[in-house]
Amino acid sequence: MLGTMLLLGGCGSHDRPQVGAAAPVTFGFGRPATADEIAVWDLDVRPDGAGLPPGRGTASQGSAVYGRKCAACHGATGIEGPFDRLVGREPRQGFPFGRLPRLVKTIGNYWPYATTLYDYVNRAMPLNAPGSLKPDEVYGLVAFLLWRNDIIASSAEMNPQTLPRVVMPAHDRFVPDNRRGGPEIR
Ligand code: HEC
Repeated sequence: MLGTMLLLGGCGSHDRPQVGAAAPVTFGFGRPATADEIAVWDLDVRPDGAGLPPGRGTASQGSAVYGRKCAACHGATGIEGPFDRLVGREPRQGFPFGRLPRLVKTIGNYWPYATTLYDYVNRAMPLNAPGSLKPDEVYGLVAFLLWRNDIIASSAEMNPQTLPRVVMPAHDRFVPDNRRGGPEIR
């Protein structure tokens, strides 16, 4: 199929070089990725929890990991920085982010899905060693951050069953965009 398309693409003009006609089907280098190599990258976690690995953690377990691996960049309680603020529920009423762009968006006031927290922390944090956390550490960190944002109880265990059931404060603030044509702003 690709060969046909390249061939057609190359025939259109007389002054362009006809590279398509000579393109080989393969270039003779590289190899198929192994299942293990794919697994390293295949770690997305979806809103409904699909993709969550086995494991568990509580806020107190996560607190210890947070102190060692996160506090230097996000502050002792997730508020102080120097980097992104991770804790905050204000404003508790309304969703005025469009009107007040200076309002700080946090897990507690903006994120629609708890499972995204697992996906993101596992994939991207700590910034200086992404991918280094074990599942139990990530579940603990997620529990700690959800507890600090007043979303779950301090004793709640986060695991593949409980995490997708956590309803985030901003959950209903996001709707599927089903507009068809017409003005882009609703
Ligand atoms: C070396 C500094 C550094 C460390 C250590 C670090 N982070 Fe981050 N973190 C950042 C930066 C910078 C960003 C913003 C990244 C971006 O916007 O692309 C960020 C973003 C985040 C966010 C997204 C915040 C939001 O609402 O957009 C979360 C959640 C987070 N980090 C959690 C953690 C956790 C949990 C740890 C510990 C395992 C950690 N971080 C360790 C620097 C760090």
